[in-house]
Amino acid sequence: MEKSKFMKINCHDYSHEDVVKVSSVFKKGGLVIFPTETVYGIGADAGSDAACKRIFQVKSRKQDNPLIVHVDSIDTMKKFALTEEIELLPELEKLWPGPLTVVMRKKDNICNAASAGLDTVGMRIPACDFIREVIHSSGIPIAAPSANISGRPSATRIEHIISELGQKVDLIIDSGETIYGIESTVILPEGRKCTILRPGAYTEEDLLKIFDVVEYSVPGGKVLSPGTKYTHYSPEKRLYRAERSILIKYLEEHRGKVLPIITFETHEITGGDAIILGHENDPMEISHNLYHSLRLLDSSEYEYGIIESFPHRGYFTSIMNRIEKASIEI
Ligand code: TXA
Ligand code: MG
Repeated sequence: MEKSKFMKINCHDYSHEDVVKVSSVFKKGGLVIFPTETVYGIGADAGSDAACKRIFQVKSRKQDNPLIVHVDSIDTMKKFALTEEIELLPELEKLWPGPLTVVMRKKDNICNAASAGLDTVGMRIPACDFIREVIHSSGIPIAAPSANISGRPSATRIEHIISELGQKVDLIIDSGETIYGIESTVILPEGRKCTILRPGAYTEEDLLKIFDVVEYSVPGGKVLSPGTKYTHYSPEKRLYRAERSILIKYLEEHRGKVLPIITFETHEITGGDAIILGHENDPMEISHNLYHSLRLLDSSEYEYGIIESFPHRGYFTSIMNRIEKASIEI
């Protein structure tokens, strides 16, 4: 396969030429790795079965796991999904552009590969102005999962991509570190109620400003979001998790073998080698650094890791969803 081409862009300050360049790759059915405010995506024309099938192949993604379709506006969304069925769409619009994916019934112009044969599609308006401009000017909605091999932590920096997918796509757009560092919240709205299929960068509290009732899809119950049933976000090395006091004790007994991934405050107590997630009262800093920290563990000399766990509150609920999938409780 031809070597991937690189370009650097600033999401909010870019040239028309760059927009045209990227649009032309999508128009030819190419695969493009691009930045969003959550994590990097690996995208293709959501109307093209052939292009979307390549995404599944390159990521080793299970065929029954649908892709999120990224559009630039509600007007564009209306062309590809039955938005009129979403009662609170005008209110949801206030959360876009942003880290929210709304599952709705799709129209026929979204290809079967993108929707994994379902009659629904997850729609999202990402915050990167450059990508929205590409979608707007090309008229192409972009089907894109996270830019990682399935099961691995999502990519939040370009260096994560080079090693995993570097040679397998047509274009890689580098825009530095992503902001949130964890993926969008996926919801299924039904009237004034919504179900969170995957917790994410927007919290239950954010959604309660719009919906009367917000529920989580029941763990172990019917799988509403196909992706949530697979192993996810895991480093290659074994990773344990524990809250601060247990983690400190564990470290005392296993020092030298285990690399802790902990908050600044916990490190003030433990000292020694560690990967610092951020400050305990700054969940944004912690989510921003989370996947990079998991990858640092893999590239370290240590045999295995232990990560600090947090109370399930506010945005920490979403962070804990990812930490729990990546680790084993002790
Ligand atoms: O922040 C994000 O959401 C990133 C960026 C690139 O936009 N994308 C992302 O995509 O995380 P992916 O494919 O890694 O995760 C998409 C999740 C999966 O759990 C998938 O099953 C679910 O969304 N999903 C997509 N379409 C769906 C649908 N029609 N019904 C239910 N769940 C859906
Ligand atoms: Mg993913």
